[in-house]
Parts: sequence; structure tokens; C-alpha cells
Amino acid sequence: MNIALGVSGGVAAYKAAELVRRLQQEKLDVQVVMTRSAKEFIAPLTFAALTGQKVITEMFGGEAGEPANVESAIEHIAVAQRIDLLVITPATANVLAKLARGIADDFLTTLYLATTAPVVVAPAMNVNMWEHPATQENLEILRARGVRVVDPDEGYLACGMTGAGRLASVAAIAQVVCEVLGIRHDFDGETVLVTAGPTCEDLDPVRFLTNRSSGKMGYALADAAQRRGARVILVSGPTALTPPTGVECVQVRTAEEMHRAVLERAPECTVVIKAAAVADFRPVVPHAKKIKRGAGRFTLELEPTPDILADLARVKGDRILVGFAAETDHVAEHAREKLAAKRADLIVANDVTQHGAGFDQDTNVVSLFARDGRELSLPRLSKFDVANRVLDEILHLRHGSRQAPAVHGAPPSDR
Ligand code: PMT
Repeated sequence: MNIALGVSGGVAAYKAAELVRRLQQEKLDVQVVMTRSAKEFIAPLTFAALTGQKVITEMFGGEAGEPANVESAIEHIAVAQRIDLLVITPATANVLAKLARGIADDFLTTLYLATTAPVVVAPAMNVNMWEHPATQENLEILRARGVRVVDPDEGYLACGMTGAGRLASVAAIAQVVCEVLGIRHDFDGETVLVTAGPTCEDLDPVRFLTNRSSGKMGYALADAAQRRGARVILVSGPTALTPPTGVECVQVRTAEEMHRAVLERAPECTVVIKAAAVADFRPVVPHAKKIKRGAGRFTLELEPTPDILADLARVKGDRILVGFAAETDHVAEHAREKLAAKRADLIVANDVTQHGAGFDQDTNVVSLFARDGRELSLPRLSKFDVANRVLDEILHLRHGSRQAPAVHGAPPSDR
């Protein structure tokens, strides 16, 4: 994952170097952006040496006074789109004020406006500046906007005064960054195989049977599992999505290819999650040439595709097997049937007729049916949050209730 670390001008700027190291331990790729005043406290070279990357210090490239060039003039947009999070450490009262009011007069403040990634700020300043109503008002604006503020510690300050304003510890800032990014270590040592997207079954060289799966649910699972420490293999049907960085992606097209890829890679895995919408039928004979339009009706003969989940269950071992169920009616009943029939450990059922659920949505509404009898209904959540709840439930199945957070929700009922 990529993050931008903004450094503004305060005595605590040197601690940002330690934060770089700490974040690198979490396998984060850190791009440092410094304000002009930050350079008065610490040299850009320190960060360049730590990150192995050019440190961005000016809006238009080069040093102040040097001519601008086109690449650097749009660099803030490129960085803004690339990053998964922006953290500003230390954040001065001046920078907080600019962020709150939308003033974009240097690279860092422009980056803040241009990015849609989550933002974390760790303020550090003199106690009176910290307690000033202007600063507190700006922080309230930022908090209301969803910016995570890592409050400063109290203690002896560089200005000689005592009180609140000392930069929070590097550990505390790193913890908030990891929390916001969903980085945990509860899947360390696990290898998770996720299937995603649709399959395409060819009728002839130009036509195929497929479905509305975008791959978003499966890609969210792959992303979340990786952020929680798992090695992830993503077996994906054709989608428009970019696989999360660090995930090994196997691209397939047909149910047959997905079947082969999953069974080939399953022995390496401790968990298999089947979020793909696999075609249940394919043409018995795909035509080698384009089927010509005729005057009469055309009948297409279909045969069942291999049932990947059922074949996996036969070689299950102590692997955890999670199936999805896309239903339009009697969701709980069908999900319970699938749990037994497919010998899965967990079925994630989505009622795809519900608003904000199922195919090609950014959110999902699911119910979980576990082999130990637990049944839970979750509210509408982003697919990333659904993915994390599914992973929590997998941990619960593996370790019991002591080591996984409780999942709240009423048992699902049929409509
Ligand atoms: O991709 P998105 O746009 O984000 O949409 C997400 C989703 C709706 C596709 C996803 O949430 C979902 O429900 N995936 C499963 C869809 C499906 O095919 O359900 P099913 O009830 O037909 O299949 C049940 C299970 O058997 C699934 O885990 C499926 O992967 C598996 N299966 C199905 C057919 C087959 N030949 N082999 C299989 O292993």
C-alpha cells in the first residue's frame, strides 16, 4: 500500500523519520511531502535516504525560484490518486487551519484537497496555540469531515512550557494509521484463496454467457485478507478492477479454467473463499464460427459446469471453506441447504434483490451461516467492511469466540 507522509514545520519534524521506519515495517510504501518550514527543521535528504524516493518539497518541482515543468505541475494529482492514506506528522496550527479552510498554497495542502484517501493528522505545537479556540475550531471541522486526529500528549514542550501539544508517540500514530488502513496481524501465517468476478462461457467467437458480477466483493475480500497479514491468491474472472498490490492474481475466463486454477492452488491454502459468480451452465458445443442469424428460433443446448465448491469439499482437509449464495428468495432456507450440500464451513448469503446488495454495488447486505450453527444478519455495509466481518467469522470458526471479535446481529429469517 502507498501512503503520503506530510511533514510540516515543527520541532517534532525529526520524529517523522522514525515514523517512516515504523510504517515501512508494515510494508507501506512511504512518499514524503515536506512544507517549506519543515525543511528548516530536518533535511529532505534524511527522508530520501530512508524511503529511497525523491522527497516532494515544492509545488512546481525543483527548488523555489526554479522554472516549473509540466510533470511536477500535475504531480499532486498523481500522488493524490496513488495513495491509500495521507498522514501529516507533525501538523502545525498553520497547516491545520489551511486544511480546515481549504487553502491550497503548497504541495501538501493541495494534496489534501486532491485526494479522496483517508487523512490522519498528528498535531504538535505550543500549549497556548493548541488550546486556542481557532485551533480547536479547525480541529472540530476536520474531525467532522472524517479526518482522524491523533491528539498530542501533555508534558514538557520544546518552547519551555508544560501542557498539551507534544507530538503523540510514533507508536500511537502508527497504530492509528494501521487501524484506518485495516492493517492487522490476525491472518499472519494464513494463505487465503479468493475467487472473484464472473465467468464467461463462449457460444461462438463473438458471443458468450456471463452475469453481472463486477468482482468488487471478491477483490474487497482479497484486499482485507492481505491487510490482515494473509498471503492472498486471487483467482479472478474478467473484471475491470485492478488487483490489490501484493496479491497474487490468476486471471481466468471460464468456469472450467476457474475450477482448474482453484483445485491446483488449493493445497497451498488454509482458507478458500468463493465469492465468484460462476456460470452454472455452458454451451455443450461452442461454435467455432459465428452463429448466423436464421429466420426461425434458435435453441441452445447447455450442460452443467463443474461445481468448484463441491469438488473442493472432497479434498477439504482442515482448510476453511467459505461459499457465497446469491439468492432472490427464501435466502436463509437456500443458504442452510447450500451449507449442508456443499459441505462448507460458512455460507455468506446475499439477497441480491435488496437495495445496495449483490452484483455491481459498492455495498452489500449479507447473512452469515456457519457450520457451528451461528447465524448472523449484517446491516448494509461497504464491501470492504463485509469482507472484514467474513474474515472475523473465519477466525471465530478457527479459534472459537475468545480470539475473534464478537459479531453482532440477529439470526436471519426468511421472508
Ligand atoms: O462481484 P460483485 O459485483 O461484487 O457481486 C458480488 C456477488 C453477488 C457475485 C457475490 O456476493 C456472490 O454472491 N457470489 C456468489 C454468486 C453465486 O454464484 O452464487 P451461487 O448461489 O450461484 O453459488 C453458490 C456458491 O457456489 C458460490 O460460492 C459459487 O462461487 C460456487 N459455485 C457456483 C457454481 C459452480 N459451478 N461452482 C461453484 O463453486
